[in-house]
Amino acid sequence: MQPTEILSTEHKSILVALKILEKAGKALASGDLAAAEDLDRLLDFFRGFVDQCHHGKEELALFPELVKRGVPKEGGPIGVMLSEHEVGRGLVRKIQDLVNAVKGGEAGAAKEVPQFIGYYRGVLEAHIQKEDNVLFVRAAGLLDKTRAEEMVQEFDRIEQEHVGAGKHEAYHQMLETLKERYLS
Ligand SMILES: [Fe+2]
Ligand SMILES: [Fe+2]
Repeated sequence: MQPTEILSTEHKSILVALKILEKAGKALASGDLAAAEDLDRLLDFFRGFVDQCHHGKEELALFPELVKRGVPKEGGPIGVMLSEHEVGRGLVRKIQDLVNAVKGGEAGAAKEVPQFIGYYRGVLEAHIQKEDNVLFVRAAGLLDKTRAEEMVQEFDRIEQEHVGAGKHEAYHQMLETLKERYLS
């Protein structure tokens, strides 16, 4: 499998998780306090799976290799991708702060949750579109077979270091459970 195919497969899970996040945020805003626990689990997924593991593979392995092979960083597509990862991190922190405030008794904070989830979803969906349809197409043409195989190994290492096999499985199970609850 090409490294970019691995990342595009992960994008599919991320897009499902964004839909669940949106529903859970709306549930919280309409007074369902139990949704706060689900939001905690989802935000942990966005920090652990999406940011550390998925963005880790892009930032530590794929992007540096593309820069070496002539794709511009500053003022180019890699710079844009990196800054969008950073915007996403800030929004996840903001949403977590709001959820924590709700759990701490500030009921009014719940009303702001859907708005920030909407920003986050918008940023990440557009980001994924750009990666899948532009950057990864270009990347697949730039990586020869040997380098692509090495990168798949690097991805495995990054995943082990940041998440670990058991946790990876647990994330997918959590998504399945919450998909049943919010999307069926
Ligand atoms: Fe990315
Ligand atoms: Fe990505």
